[in-house]
Amino acid sequence: MAKVQLTDAAVSEEILVVGLAYKEGSPAHLKIESGNLSLDEKELLVALSDLGATGKSDEITKLPGTSTRLIVFTGLGKAHKSYPHETLRRASGAATRALAGNTSLAIALPTNVAEDVAAIAEGALLGAYSFDEFRGATKAEQKSPIQNITIHTKLAKSTEAKALAKRALVIGQYTTLVRDLINMPPSHLTPDSFTKIISQAVTLAGGASAGLKVSILDEKQLRTQGFGGITGVGQGSANPPRLLHVSYTPSKSKKRFAFVGKGITFDSGGLALKPALGMEAMKSDMSGAAAVCAAVMAIATLKLPVAIDAWAPLAENMVSDTATRPSDIITIYGGKTVEVLNPDAEGRLVLADALIKAIEVGNKGKSHLDGIVDVATLTGAQVVALGTRTSAVMTNNEEFNSKFLKAAQTSGEAFWPMPLPEELRASLDSPVADLANIGERMGGMLVAGLFLKDFIPNELPWLHLDIAGPAFNEGEAFGYTPVGGTGIAMRTLIALAERLVK
Ligand code: BES
Ligand code: MN
Ligand code: ZN
Repeated sequence: MAKVQLTDAAVSEEILVVGLAYKEGSPAHLKIESGNLSLDEKELLVALSDLGATGKSDEITKLPGTSTRLIVFTGLGKAHKSYPHETLRRASGAATRALAGNTSLAIALPTNVAEDVAAIAEGALLGAYSFDEFRGATKAEQKSPIQNITIHTKLAKSTEAKALAKRALVIGQYTTLVRDLINMPPSHLTPDSFTKIISQAVTLAGGASAGLKVSILDEKQLRTQGFGGITGVGQGSANPPRLLHVSYTPSKSKKRFAFVGKGITFDSGGLALKPALGMEAMKSDMSGAAAVCAAVMAIATLKLPVAIDAWAPLAENMVSDTATRPSDIITIYGGKTVEVLNPDAEGRLVLADALIKAIEVGNKGKSHLDGIVDVATLTGAQVVALGTRTSAVMTNNEEFNSKFLKAAQTSGEAFWPMPLPEELRASLDSPVADLANIGERMGGMLVAGLFLKDFIPNELPWLHLDIAGPAFNEGEAFGYTPVGGTGIAMRTLIALAERLVK
């Protein structure tokens, strides 16, 4: 993890990053945005226009500096009086990404309020990521991420800015964990090793002294206690399933929420085997589980006064003579039966078990759950509907949803509300069980949401996040987002927790 410091002194680093925006008109003209740092702009603007720089987002232009060795312009898009936080995040992230291979850099971008500083810090940290653990012969030639980030701002001495820069470090640290887990090959990330990595991370986060506790159910316990969803999905694999629970209990808590994340360490489709191309990215099918586990640790590290239970039903969906057959009937924890018509619709099965358990534990004794959020790479239909960069949110509670959407907005994560049309529910009826695991093909994302809704009491505020596309970037890197695991949803869960106790 890189380090961040704030300063209002002169630039001493060899590399200075500043913003470049454009003002529309014909011809469009460029505007250098370096916050409070004044530059000799005239010559720079001539050079930039000679080089064909446009100031569009994700454009990086490097020039030899005068007072620094290098001056790097990162695109901000259209000029603004004050820039949206996500614009700042992406611009600083694109810069740290492009400057991998160097050790330190300074960033001077416009900062009017402490949140601007936070966005710059966050973007820079998220852009400074690499995953080279599994390289052999090519490891040495990889450029390592930036290690020291200095942000130039007149707010360097503001306590709020300093606190938010610390928060950015927590975000950076746990986003790295989520991305690493997603990028790890399924040969190394099994349900069992997932629980071990999270247990270690919880210890590093302070364990019991931070209010964190881990408990794990193994396959035998899952079987005897009746978790037919998790065991049904996992029974075709040599790597047995687990149910991981990470709880955070602050010394003073105002509310209690449960986060449940889909944890399929590899989704082959089971006996409804996916074609090779559709399987390539399926190591990312545990992105929801990684996001909820990291979120609860980040929330504990930030000492938020809200109790959180994170649940990760972990299984590998494989093909074998012990795998669940199409038409098999399984019994979800709590007693509902499901006809498994398609073993590739496995996420909803493991989630159903975990949702019921999360509600049971959350409402035990004197405690009661104020809401529940599930996070899952659930359907290809999500990607068809919203593309690869916008996630979906479905709900039974508009008030909870509007808080969530505000949290998503401040985090810079794109979520779009989707309906749960009642008329689609009948398509999940089964002639032989309480319900079937697939229904109407059209609107498949909504049908999956309706399946989960069947396991949620009406009065419990619930959000279902389908992150199938945004969890894993199969295209080019952009802004602060690398190729591979993105870490989506974790930042919004943290921002939601902050908002819920405000
Ligand atoms: N893990 C997949 C969904 C997925 C697809 C995630 C593409 C990321 C990218 C899920 O388990 C799945 O296979 N869903 C099926 C459901 C269908 C059988 C009803 C799908 O979407 O095709
Ligand atoms: Mn599947
Ligand atoms: Zn899946």
